[in-house]
Amino acid sequence: MIDIRRPDNMVRIETEAQAKAYIDEQITLLRQQIGDKKVLLALSGGVDSSVVAALLIKAVGDQLVSVHVNHGLLRKGEPEQVIEVFRNQMHANLIYVDATDRFLNKLAGVTDPETKRMIIGGEFIEVFAEEARKLDGIEFLAQGTIWPDILESEAGIKAHHNAGGLPEDLSFELVEPVRILFKDEVRVVGKALGLPDNMVYRQPFPGPGLGVRCPGAITRDRLEAVRESDAILREEFAKNGLEGKVWQYFTVVPDFKSTGITDGKRTFQWPCIIRAINTTDVVEVTVEHLDPAFIDHLVQRITTEVPGINRVLFDYTPKPPATVEYE
Ligand code: XMP
Repeated sequence: MIDIRRPDNMVRIETEAQAKAYIDEQITLLRQQIGDKKVLLALSGGVDSSVVAALLIKAVGDQLVSVHVNHGLLRKGEPEQVIEVFRNQMHANLIYVDATDRFLNKLAGVTDPETKRMIIGGEFIEVFAEEARKLDGIEFLAQGTIWPDILESEAGIKAHHNAGGLPEDLSFELVEPVRILFKDEVRVVGKALGLPDNMVYRQPFPGPGLGVRCPGAITRDRLEAVRESDAILREEFAKNGLEGKVWQYFTVVPDFKSTGITDGKRTFQWPCIIRAINTTDVVEVTVEHLDPAFIDHLVQRITTEVPGINRVLFDYTPKPPATVEYE
């Protein structure tokens, strides 16, 4: 693997014209590197892997095999959108694996946050490797590595997260077409490639997905309450012009119940916690103070529309002392 580095004098990609020039250059380089061979990509639906997929579809078309693993911890509508955009609109060679049962069965009863993360990460590699072994003639593995990943791994801040964990029998040459780009540049390139705005300007979403927003042992009903409340929150943020303005916002449904009342009858259900934060570097995070009338509206919708929720709480804690995610 050639250690391609961002040139010191590289101009930041901000305009569509700059993005198109980058895309043309990458298409040439990708065709040179890949020739008539096949490339494999784990397509999560996040901005980096989506841009890599769109670039490779333009450069080598059907020679790209994308695998979308649904671990059952994705947000509402995400797997459907990956299928719609890549299979139906871009005609990608897409393998969709619904591994929900497999992940949730492995996670059943597991309460420790780090163990949960390890199970999700390990199982992901396992499922992806199984799909890779079914395919013939793959020589390359595409990854959505971006320039900050390289800088952070060099500085010893975090290990290079990408599919480095694949078993030894699966050793592919890497293809990393957004490796020298910063996140904002990846978004400009994604937009120029015609990807939908809600994919390009998507807020950060952790690899273990809703699993870390369903603290403690994950159950299907509580996970559904996280997914439904998150969908309402995202819909309301979009409707009220907050999408793209607030850095990250989501819901958490903790594993305890409290007493409530609905239609004159006692209920005993979970609370739903709303988290809305801003940051530039994710090292320090401040809380977005939402309009009280907007919070009232969210409380009303979430308590009436999400089964199992009878109370809504707002998390006013910055980072530090709290982290963004709950696990
Ligand atoms: P924390 O909870 O560490 O989160 O304050 C900081 C930012 O990182 C995101 N996050 C993750 N992103 N894989 C990811 O790709 C992960 O395992 C992960 N855990 C946290 C989190 O959503 C926040 O934006």
